[in-house]
Amino acid sequence: MDLAQLTSDLNALRDRASSAAVSAPDTAALDVIELDVLGKKGELTAILRGIGALPAEDRPRVGAIANEVRIAVEAAIGLARAQLGSAELATRLTAETVDVTTPGRPIRRGSLHPIVETARKIADVFAQFGFVVYEGPEVEDDVTNFQMLNIPPDHPARDLWDTLYLDMEGRLLRTHTSPGQIRVMHQERPPIRALLPGRCFRYEAVDASHASEFFQVEGLMIDEGTSMADLKGLLDQFAHAMFGAGRATRFRPGYYPFTEPSVAFDILCVICNGEKCPACSRTGWMTILGAGMVHPVVLRYGGIDPERYQGFAFGMGVERIANLRHAVGDLRQYMEDDLRFLGAFR
Ligand code: DAH
Repeated sequence: MDLAQLTSDLNALRDRASSAAVSAPDTAALDVIELDVLGKKGELTAILRGIGALPAEDRPRVGAIANEVRIAVEAAIGLARAQLGSAELATRLTAETVDVTTPGRPIRRGSLHPIVETARKIADVFAQFGFVVYEGPEVEDDVTNFQMLNIPPDHPARDLWDTLYLDMEGRLLRTHTSPGQIRVMHQERPPIRALLPGRCFRYEAVDASHASEFFQVEGLMIDEGTSMADLKGLLDQFAHAMFGAGRATRFRPGYYPFTEPSVAFDILCVICNGEKCPACSRTGWMTILGAGMVHPVVLRYGGIDPERYQGFAFGMGVERIANLRHAVGDLRQYMEDDLRFLGAFR
């Protein structure tokens, strides 16, 4: 191998590689050329191996030419890469265009459970009269669920609540939200306006109108000079907000151990408007809640002086209110997870 031969080999390589780069169809082909010519096992390296056979004074010249060839080939490849790259990018941009004007997939929205919706609506109505929402525990004790509500052990009034007892320490699942009255009295000083929504439990054989789990909303107001007229006025406002402004209401005498006097609060039947139908047991009226003036004994258990303060309380079943608002006939539907039922209250 002599200087002339090496020089012409190098020049030939440069011309071949440069024109291959110019005519390469894509950047992948350029990668191949780059590797074949400039790579560790490439042609340029192979030619340079021949340098060792040259006289020492010729070597720098060949080295310089080889370097020029490398730079020339790199430049040719670089130029071709830039041109092919932008062409390829343009192709991809057209092919992969996203049509941002296409309507999106609709997001399926859930809806509130009808019992939650009804409980919130109830709370909204009473909030307008200054009632604040509190919550008591679902696991109660016998003392708060019964005794402090003027229902002593072995009193026949206990038969009103079929109770699920948890243990011999007096723990039970609350049968109503009324023990929340006691908890609020222990926690707050009058004036008190409390609303207590929550889940209750009873030992029931489940059918269309009996559930072992259900929801109540309890109300409690305590202040100086609170009267039965305040109770009647408030409940009228409630009935009108829930069932229409013209809905007639009435108080009937009732019995609860924790109120005296006690009443049942009725609205004119929402089905027959008083014409007497099966839905109202042919009375023309529907009872929607129990209420009364808080018994002085209960106030005293709550740490409140009955000589100074009076109060009223009321308690309603949320399912009952929801049934009347949405014409639902079977309580069990509230506990099932049938989306056709639950989605109907949107
Ligand atoms: N706790 C009663 C029940 O579960 C409902 C009730 C009646 C609550 C009268 C009251 C009330 O606060 O004054 O049957």
